[in-house]
Amino acid sequence: MVQGHDPNKLELFNGFRSYNSMKSNSFKGGYIGKRHTWMRKHLSSIVVTVALMGFLYLLDSFISSVFEPSVIQSNSMPKNMIVPLEIGDSRGKDVVQMYDRLASMASSALVERELKQDESKFWKESYRQASEWSPCADRKESTSVRTEKLQSNTGYILVSANGGLNQQRVAVCNAVAVASLLNATLVIPRFLFSNVWKDPSQFGDIYQEEYFIKTLTNEVNIVKDLPPHLKSLDFKEIGSLITDADMSKEATPTEYIEKVLPLLSKNGVVHFLGFGNRLGFDPLPSQLQRLRCKCNYHALKFVHKIQETGSLLIRRIRKYDGSRNKLDKQLLGKFITGFRSNGPDIDREPLKYIALHLRFEVDMVAYSLCEFGGGQVEKTELQAYREVHFPLLMQRLKRTRAVSAEELRRSGKCPLTPEEAALVLAALGFTSETYIYLAGSQIYGGKSRMQPLTNLYPHVITKEDLLSPTELAPFKNFSSQLAALDFIACATADVFAITDSGSQLSSLVSGFRTYYGRGHAPTLRPSKKRLAEILSKNQTIDWKEFEARVTKMISGAQSVRLRGWGRSIYRQPRCPECMCKFQ
Ligand SMILES: *[C@@H]1O[C@H](CO)[C@@H](O)[C@H](O)[C@H]1NC(C)=O
Ligand SMILES: *[C@@H]1O[C@H](CO)[C@@H](O)[C@H](O)[C@H]1NC(C)=O
Ligand SMILES: *[C@@H]1O[C@H](CO)[C@@H](O)[C@H](O)[C@H]1NC(C)=O
Repeated sequence: MVQGHDPNKLELFNGFRSYNSMKSNSFKGGYIGKRHTWMRKHLSSIVVTVALMGFLYLLDSFISSVFEPSVIQSNSMPKNMIVPLEIGDSRGKDVVQMYDRLASMASSALVERELKQDESKFWKESYRQASEWSPCADRKESTSVRTEKLQSNTGYILVSANGGLNQQRVAVCNAVAVASLLNATLVIPRFLFSNVWKDPSQFGDIYQEEYFIKTLTNEVNIVKDLPPHLKSLDFKEIGSLITDADMSKEATPTEYIEKVLPLLSKNGVVHFLGFGNRLGFDPLPSQLQRLRCKCNYHALKFVHKIQETGSLLIRRIRKYDGSRNKLDKQLLGKFITGFRSNGPDIDREPLKYIALHLRFEVDMVAYSLCEFGGGQVEKTELQAYREVHFPLLMQRLKRTRAVSAEELRRSGKCPLTPEEAALVLAALGFTSETYIYLAGSQIYGGKSRMQPLTNLYPHVITKEDLLSPTELAPFKNFSSQLAALDFIACATADVFAITDSGSQLSSLVSGFRTYYGRGHAPTLRPSKKRLAEILSKNQTIDWKEFEARVTKMISGAQSVRLRGWGRSIYRQPRCPECMCKFQ
């Protein structure tokens, strides 16, 4: 099943080459005669070099813009960025296993559970209180102020959002809130084309545009395009171009009123370029917080093409046609039938599955500076990757005291390996029969890294396993649309297991499940630090104790709390602005 990723990788690789062949074509013109043959012979290496250089430049400027590991963790890097180098692909090599002893104990424990037909209690949420919260960000509120706001148009806000699917989603909803704050009209956001993601999808390719506008009427004025007289303006020239460097990270409403409103009044338009994480969560007027939730949870619906294939995907995982809960309906709309279909499924239960989002791609792994039991080969490989892709990190490392790999591990800074994820699932009592949907990612080390997971859990499936090449073809060149399929499969899973709470996909999906799940959509969030502490005893701990400690860690993280100050409403919608609580 890991091989399922390969065509993907190849596709992206090819895409990259074709993009760069444009460049190389133009300089190919400068060579004649013998040189031409030379060029032909070396074209591929030149293409790769040019590709690498462009890629490096992008990566470097990206990393330097916000230099901290959490950025890497937040999915701001593309899934398939491991482009020209085949580093990290150790398929065919030996299995890399860090915890032989625990793995064999896990394996016996699972057999025992299987015999007893013992089901994990983690198929359900740990706390009954979770079901006391229900969605209500779309509630009607007093309209008089809103009408006034809608009538006083201060100008147009244009947003070009960068990043992948999930970052753009956050940018869209932040833009809605900013437009409302400033009584401005929002132009349907644009998505920046990045040479790293190579996805030209625009808003309307991913979300239903009309539905978005309709859902937010009476809240914010939204138009599809700028009026003609503003289109011809040079935003930079008139000072209306606002980049991420011009605004603080998680900026406050006051900052928008002081910096942006004057520009808006003067020029009638501002253009936010990038717009990554540029509106803070607190303090924010509750009306705006609610609006953000309404945008994220109600106004953004995937287009029919994505819903249709998403529906096919989950119907195949579940081997069941009908809708299972509100999450299904929200995400798939008319492409999933009602709760009780009359088809041949009537007597059958849908197959349960866990969706697992493993953030264990080479970028993440290399950037962490941790060691993962792969010995010298791994060390060399990751060091080489860092030197090529993270020159700024390398520079910084030269200046500062090196933190040892052991220390990093102890302090919970290391991404979870597939093996560690498997041990957690085993400790929680998920039997070997469990279906695990793996959200699409290029696992570092490929098959040999996945093996400790697939040894315990043979039913690991990806969208490439479930959909035919023909069904996937319309998505192939669109990484954001592929990511939307993962979003759907993860959000509608019986259980969603994440390994990195900093990842944007994990965060948005778990928020979605909290919002629509009615206490029946558990998310498993291991704490890397606590897990590291438990695993440091891997040579001595007995299985019962391992189970007990992992269980405690996971159920602790499921406790039902109000969103804390400054925390993301996209991740934790349990707050009065977004959800209503019933006793
Ligand atoms: C937006 O409109 C409301 C209602 O008319 C008004 O109270 C508020 O001051 C306006 N805000 C801005 C930034 O213009
Ligand atoms: C994807 O891109 C490749 C090369 O850029 C192109 O040949 C192919 O037709 C595209 N496929 C789709 C479905 O757009
Ligand atoms: C496994 O246990 C050994 C011995 O206690 C310890 O030195 C090692 O750090 C542990 N491994 C991990 C990855 O925690």
